[in-house]
Amino acid sequence: MARAVPLLAALAVLLAAAAAGGDAPPGKIAVVGAGIGGSAVAHFLQQHFGPRVQIDVYEKWTVGGRLATISVNKQHYESGAASFHSLSLHMQDFVKLLGLRHRREVVGRSAIFSGEHFVLEETDWYLLNLFRLWWHYGISFLRLQMWVEEVMEKFMRIYKYQAHGYAFSGVEELLYSLGESAFVNMTQRSVTESLLQVGVTQRFIDDVVSAVLRASYGQSAAMPAFAGAMSLAGAQGNLWSVEGGNKLVCSGLLKLTKANVIHATVTSVTLHSTEGKALYQVGYENEVGNSSDLYDIVVIAAPLYLDSNSSNFTFEGFNPPIDDVQGSFQTSIVSLVHGYLNSSYFGFPDPKLFPFASILTTDFPSFFCTLDNICPVNISANFRRKQPQEAAVWRVQSPKPLFRTQLKTLFRSYYSVQTAEWKAHPLYGSRPTLPRFALHDQLFYLNALEWAASSVEVMAVAAKNVALLAYNRWYQDLDKIDQKDLMHKVKTEL
Ligand SMILES: Cc1cc2nc3c(=O)[nH]c(=O)nc-3n(C[C@H](O)[C@H](O)[C@H](O)COP(=O)(O)OP(=O)(O)OC[C@H]3O[C@@H](n4cnc5c(N)ncnc54)[C@H](O)[C@@H]3O)c2cc1C
Ligand SMILES: *[C@@H]1O[C@H](CO)[C@@H](O)[C@H](O)[C@H]1NC(C)=O
Ligand SMILES: *[C@@H]1O[C@H](CO)[C@@H](O)[C@H](O)[C@H]1NC(C)=O
Ligand SMILES: *[C@@H]1O[C@H](CO)[C@@H](O)[C@H](O)[C@H]1NC(C)=O
Ligand SMILES: *[C@@H]1O[C@H](CO)[C@@H](O)[C@H](O)[C@H]1NC(C)=O
Ligand SMILES: *[C@@H]1O[C@H](CO)[C@@H](O)[C@H](O)[C@H]1NC(C)=O
Ligand SMILES: *[C@@H]1O[C@H](CO)[C@@H](O)[C@H](O)[C@H]1NC(C)=O
Repeated sequence: MARAVPLLAALAVLLAAAAAGGDAPPGKIAVVGAGIGGSAVAHFLQQHFGPRVQIDVYEKWTVGGRLATISVNKQHYESGAASFHSLSLHMQDFVKLLGLRHRREVVGRSAIFSGEHFVLEETDWYLLNLFRLWWHYGISFLRLQMWVEEVMEKFMRIYKYQAHGYAFSGVEELLYSLGESAFVNMTQRSVTESLLQVGVTQRFIDDVVSAVLRASYGQSAAMPAFAGAMSLAGAQGNLWSVEGGNKLVCSGLLKLTKANVIHATVTSVTLHSTEGKALYQVGYENEVGNSSDLYDIVVIAAPLYLDSNSSNFTFEGFNPPIDDVQGSFQTSIVSLVHGYLNSSYFGFPDPKLFPFASILTTDFPSFFCTLDNICPVNISANFRRKQPQEAAVWRVQSPKPLFRTQLKTLFRSYYSVQTAEWKAHPLYGSRPTLPRFALHDQLFYLNALEWAASSVEVMAVAAKNVALLAYNRWYQDLDKIDQKDLMHKVKTEL
């Protein structure tokens, strides 16, 4: 009889493991959203759980999400995310895995416009650029670089943790593991405050830093330091994009995974339990009507925020209730204008002499954030960028749609204007706390990480984290979740 107790205890553990999934892989997984987050998580989930698990990906619009193209004059151009940092390791892997190629970089100079004149102009000569920065801003420029590099170096630790199978159940836990409380605090403190502290001058922040933040996030230097540092890293050059269009990564990953793409809007996730095991009912709507299906694992790979249709997305049957939909998103309008630039507006009466391909703006009351002379997504070997006196395709990014009078200011004349209206990035500061990836046992919110920083690679990192989190939870490998002091652990595991 004395032996019965440990036996029973062992049985209880086995039963608990079986209830939680045990050794059997999950049967069906739902992913809501087919942007880079949804496509990448489908791929990673299949890598971990094996090829037999069925993955349904729900998409209400088009595969790619914020990776999208628009056709102008028979060529396609990026209308959403345009380029990535060279150290975007997951994206680099995807491109290799899918046999895609990097798009050739067509050089062009950039400059920062203050409304009256150019505060900073890039030249063809690297040393002269450095000299100008030094002349104008002294050591601020170096201090900024060191600050950005330190953040990037710490952020890159995530790849090592992920390679060892470690996952995090919340954004705060993830950031803490990379850079302790200083990193977590960077999601609360402003770019300005952090940069002033390391000795960057206010003038450099106003002229240069704020122009870069406007260009990438449409927000000011009052935005949080973490997201700011990640976007400033992108301004250091070495950017790349995908030949044929960045969205090919999403469609490629979904095809490779043989995921079942369902064109429908998901409206609810409802908790059902059978024999102590959580099952999730995903309710969706399409032309045919309303329907639903049951899943072992659900990943929400789309942003949840107020003032959007995503707030119509409901969670039912959860106790405590899931009511983490907070904050709002920044609108950004991308206008692709095929026409002739009005170089006079920038102080160059003769368009032939206009030397820039890319213009950023400072915080002057400006109706646009950036203006770029862009290249199509397919570039042939003999391609050259259009000269400013020629009709070219310009990409204008602005917080509001451009009025005709504004277009007439920027362009001498134009053939066409096509616009994409985006809910582009979180409006940082509009939600007080960082969200969690784990909403319930096997219900995950991938875009939680967007509230720390929003970029294509960051979403790929979130996808890998969620796939690992689902896997570790499914097989009860709790040592691989929310571990502290990973730098040390990872070193000794090698
Ligand atoms: C104009 C612009 C420029 C940018 N530039 C860059 C850049 O240069 N570099 C960079 O790295 N990042 C850039 N970004 C940010 C980058 O695009 C995003 O961080 C990234 O693409 C987000 O991917 P995601 O998969 O998380 O979300 P999304 O791409 O938004 O995908 C979510 C998908 O879910 C779908 N969906 C939403 N709700 C539902 C529902 N209820 N049911 C079914 N489907 C649903 C949506 O239709 C969408 O396709 C830019 C963004 C914009 C808008
Ligand atoms: C982060 O902020 C908390 C609370 O505001 C503070 O106690 C802590 O010292 C800060 N950490 C760092 C490294 O700045
Ligand atoms: C553009 O490039 C992609 C990827 O290399 C290729 O699949 C596609 O056929 C190309 N399209 C054109 C019009 O050349
Ligand atoms: C589908 O469900 C929504 C609520 O989610 C409801 O408003 C709508 O009427 C339903 N449509 C059909 C065709 O049943
Ligand atoms: C909500 O959805 C409707 C139709 O599906 C669309 O017209 C509208 O622009 C959307 N609004 C937002 C804020 O996304
Ligand atoms: C979503 O909910 C908002 C109110 O919260 C409503 O105005 C809007 O019409 C709803 N959209 C859809 C597509 O049902
Ligand atoms: C071009 O810019 C100049 C200077 O801002 C302005 O006077 C002019 O009206 C603009 N438009 C055209 C079509 O030249």
